Amino acid sequence: MRIGVPKEIKNHEYRVGLTPQSVAELVHHGHEVLVERDAGIGSGLTDQEYVAAGAKIADGPATVFANSEMIVKVKEPLPAERARLRPGQILFTYLHLAPDATQTQDLIKSGASCVAYETVTSESGGLPLLTPMSEVAGRLAPQVGAHCLEKEAGGRGVLLGGVPGVPAAEVVILGGGVSGTHAATIALGMGANVTVVDRNPEALRRLAFHFGTGVRTIFSTRAAIAEIVKRADLLIGAVLVPGAAAPKLVTRDMLSTMKPGSVIVDVAIDQGGCCESSRPTTHSEPTYVEGGVVHYCVTNMPGAVARTSTFALNNATLPFARALADMGLKGALMADKHLRDGLNIHAGHVTCKPVAEAHGLPWLSAEAALAR
Ligand SMILES: NC(=O)c1ccc[n+]([C@@H]2O[C@H](COP(=O)([O-])OP(=O)(O)OC[C@H]3O[C@@H](n4cnc5c(N)ncnc54)[C@H](O)[C@@H]3O)[C@@H](O)[C@H]2O)c1
Repeated sequence: MRIGVPKEIKNHEYRVGLTPQSVAELVHHGHEVLVERDAGIGSGLTDQEYVAAGAKIADGPATVFANSEMIVKVKEPLPAERARLRPGQILFTYLHLAPDATQTQDLIKSGASCVAYETVTSESGGLPLLTPMSEVAGRLAPQVGAHCLEKEAGGRGVLLGGVPGVPAAEVVILGGGVSGTHAATIALGMGANVTVVDRNPEALRRLAFHFGTGVRTIFSTRAAIAEIVKRADLLIGAVLVPGAAAPKLVTRDMLSTMKPGSVIVDVAIDQGGCCESSRPTTHSEPTYVEGGVVHYCVTNMPGAVARTSTFALNNATLPFARALADMGLKGALMADKHLRDGLNIHAGHVTCKPVAEAHGLPWLSAEAALAR
């Protein structure tokens, strides 16, 4: 198969769809890979590395889109990219179509087959192509939180790990799923006192088993959260109710009881955030202060560590990209129910039920659409 990797054009997006290592793997399997010039540069990956891996370099996006049967990207295609898609072409990337009617309509019109990373499933019921980014954001949260606690950044001047004779900071994590667990790992490693709050007793059990007595676990109730936020130097929001907006667990009343100069890192901001006072920010202006509390609410945290994120994403996407290339769209999707769950749009039909419901559009099952 001829596979194309365009340079990402979304603002401040430095990740790239395929690493040179992934390219080498696909070339080894008999496929051709066309990479846009400088596509990997934001992740520290040079054109020379891609050429050494067996890729051809294309001068611009027009050549990549026109000469590829499958496009592998990171972020959803922007209007200029959507206009380049054609019937029969495979698009494999994050799409997030439910809140985006314009993109959905453009992809329907394109006639392309669009497989979204975020709806590919796994045997255990997880979302394997979302997990690596939650791991990155979770691990990044204590790091950015520690920085925000510094005086210069508006924080209360507390060192996360303390020093002998001076207590460590109190880190409270709301949500003990993927990102919450990874946040706890790093916060503990930095020497902080860590408490994780979750509403799922199984999640609390798993955390207690994993961390032993190193991490305190608390069952999520309004009263428990109201009590614990008062003690927090760093509060990390990492809750998720799949498919829904994040619950507002920290109200403005609770915010007013937090210590001046304490910090909120609301990882769940991409789902609206779990604090009433959270609003989306960007890497260019990541923080603001409300009620004396520093808020960090960047919606694409993994972009800050593009190189790590690119490799983490490729580890998860490569097996699926290879299956699509080896077996073709229909072969790969019919052989793997979990990859089939990723098909959002095919030849003008919406094949992902929640996307169809979100926009009041007709839905056709992936099986039926592929059989046409
Ligand atoms: N900002 C970013 O750049 C970025 C990057 C990656 C992921 N995320 C977001 O981080 C959030 C968490 O993702 P995840 O993969 O860790 O999810 P997850 O499903 O693995 O974990 C979420 C946890 O929240 C818990 N929860 C739900 N409601 C709760 C409540 N009322 N009280 C306490 N706990 C509650 C669940 O029981 C679960 O354990 C998501 O919104 C995800 O989209 C953001």
